[in-house]
Amino acid sequence: MKTLKIAAAISAALALSAHAQDAQIDRKVTELMKQMTVTEKVGQLHQLSGRQFTGPTSSAYADKLADIRAGKVGSMLNVTGVADTREIQALALQSRLKIPLLFSLDVIHGYKTVFPVPLGEAASWDMDAIELSAHVAAKEAAAAGIHWTFAPMVDIARDPRWGRVMEGAGEDTYLGSQIATARVHGFQGKKLGATDSVMATAKHFAAYGAAIAGRDYNAVDMSEQQLYEVYLPPFKAAADAGAATFMNSFNTLNGVPATGNAFLQRDILKGAWKYKGFVVSDWGSVREMVPHGYAADLSDAAVKAINAGSDMDMEGYAYSQHLEAAVKAGKVKMPVLDEAVRRVLTKKFELGLFDDPYRYSDAAREKAVLGDASHRAAALDVAQKSIVLLKNEGKLLPLSRETKRIAVIGPLADSQRDLEGGWVVQGERAKVVSIVDGIRSHAGKAEISYAQACAPGCASSEGFADAVATAARSDVIVLAVGETWDMSGEAKSRTDITLPGQQEALFNALKATGKPIVVVMLAGRPLVFNTIADKADAIIYAWFPGSEGGNAVANVLFGDYNPSGKLPITFPRSVGQIPVSYAQYNTGRPVTDEKNVTYRSAYIDSVNTPRYAFGHGLSYTDFKYSGLALSSATMAGAQKVTLSFDLANSGKVEGTEIVQLYLRDMVSSVVRPVKELKGFQKVHLKPGQTQRVSFTIDRDTLSFFNRQLKWGAEAGEFKLMVGSASDDIRLESALQLTQ
Ligand code: GLC
Repeated sequence: MKTLKIAAAISAALALSAHAQDAQIDRKVTELMKQMTVTEKVGQLHQLSGRQFTGPTSSAYADKLADIRAGKVGSMLNVTGVADTREIQALALQSRLKIPLLFSLDVIHGYKTVFPVPLGEAASWDMDAIELSAHVAAKEAAAAGIHWTFAPMVDIARDPRWGRVMEGAGEDTYLGSQIATARVHGFQGKKLGATDSVMATAKHFAAYGAAIAGRDYNAVDMSEQQLYEVYLPPFKAAADAGAATFMNSFNTLNGVPATGNAFLQRDILKGAWKYKGFVVSDWGSVREMVPHGYAADLSDAAVKAINAGSDMDMEGYAYSQHLEAAVKAGKVKMPVLDEAVRRVLTKKFELGLFDDPYRYSDAAREKAVLGDASHRAAALDVAQKSIVLLKNEGKLLPLSRETKRIAVIGPLADSQRDLEGGWVVQGERAKVVSIVDGIRSHAGKAEISYAQACAPGCASSEGFADAVATAARSDVIVLAVGETWDMSGEAKSRTDITLPGQQEALFNALKATGKPIVVVMLAGRPLVFNTIADKADAIIYAWFPGSEGGNAVANVLFGDYNPSGKLPITFPRSVGQIPVSYAQYNTGRPVTDEKNVTYRSAYIDSVNTPRYAFGHGLSYTDFKYSGLALSSATMAGAQKVTLSFDLANSGKVEGTEIVQLYLRDMVSSVVRPVKELKGFQKVHLKPGQTQRVSFTIDRDTLSFFNRQLKWGAEAGEFKLMVGSASDDIRLESALQLTQ
């Protein structure tokens, strides 16, 4: 009892001290703002990119440097490294009030040590691994003078034509919310201001992933019900996790640009959610309200943006050129300006920059942290956990240690750049382990031969004959194909998501040798590859696995790591099925049997099922589910029910299963999807081992946004499903919510 009392006292003291610290910072901000001119206040809301600078103080940018010295710039992006950040900070400290700059950067999946692209990491369903990845990225970035990363991107995306699906956590709201929380914690650590952490940014607020036709920057049009049910929750999770900043998005939402959208930024974020951080625009999105047709000119854009809650203008020059005049003209009230400035200055105080503006720019720490070998081990761990085994006919994998000759073929087999994926800032490319190098270092006695067959993108088949000859002399083929790194990410939408170039022809030529063939697929999005899916013996999806990619792939191929990844996004059979998600609605004419599809919600030229379902991923062992039980078949009020079942490893090797809990609300005032992910657990079992797994079902589990957008549960029957994938349900039960 005494321990509990002590713990309670400590947490109360911590809360008090946090509150006291907040109050202290509030007072400091108020004192500082009393001294600031309108020009200086506007300066805090102007963010400038250093990308154009050839060197921080290059004379070509004298005007920008003069603005920094005059206190007319509040933050820089794309300035990295202790030397350059110190140099630019020194300029800012020549200003009258010596207000330090915030340095920011797109540290999306690693700074120097590159981790798998975020969609790949999401396939690990491993919150500890995802948090570790963000923490390592934060440590390295903070050591290089960076205060603030523009991550995590938490946009739900159900359209793989959209190239930025690579940057997020896939299609599911529940999984995406868990991952948003893990990434914010990883970047920010326990408390802002530690020099091994950075401010996080929840982006792009909001619904950017629903761009019409998967075309980047396109309009978004959806019901508020969909917005609340699918797209907002990961942002709410990020806010609840303490994300220091939000970034708005380029798209319009129901006709209003996100950057000028007071419903999103004031009503929801700063109002209902009581968010205390600040909102930065996306690159030029303030200025872009003119071409959107929402602002008459740059001055009008500035007024609309700040009045709608966009606190900082990234590279838009709208605030720097027009905000002061707008305030003087009364178009922007001083309290609106002051509120934005207060939010920005509060973060600068929380980071300790007024105590020591150079505290993140320490050359000795930069050298030590960026040379920390443990970061590569972390990158390998996360990369292995991200790999998904899609197919393993006849258990070809793991490759036998008796295999004598392995032919490693393909345009991406020897690539280092492609393994990093997009959004890489300071990655050490020369130290990326390619797939063929990873296989060579893990091959033991096997003889490894290699043929590129074609260059990345595979435009030409000239090298196919040599590759086929190499393959014909082998016992097994490992073919590395997919997209190149620059085919996904920002402004990389595709109308055709099949394998680029002649890669499918290359597969067919190799298949004709009759040798067993393992395909290693690399991409930043789901691809369509039906021939390979039908004819390959084994397929692993490695995404873009980062610095340790080749070692991670090799460990999986040789069984040193038993793959456990599960797809965080549906893989369609064709672009024609998009948007496609497991969380679909039953409709009034559901397809109950693929043979009877007349006058049903179906196609005449395809089945409805995807190529690979959300949650799909195989293992080198087998798992058996049995003995499902509910602690009660009914539930009322705030009561909780426990669902439990036995999971057994019935195979020959140890492995990890990601068990998934799905639910369907059978009858409700707003129709509910046929399945919704409501829980998952990673369970590691040795051969023959059985573990009782349990989930707690509470009222929140059964809740949804009703027609009045109120969150709550409605009495009635719920189907509970447990399985290995959304299309591989092993156990079911029914729960009655009585009131
Ligand atoms: C880009 C992206 C955004 C990124 C920002 C800064 O246009 O949309 O995600 O953080 O600009 O590079």
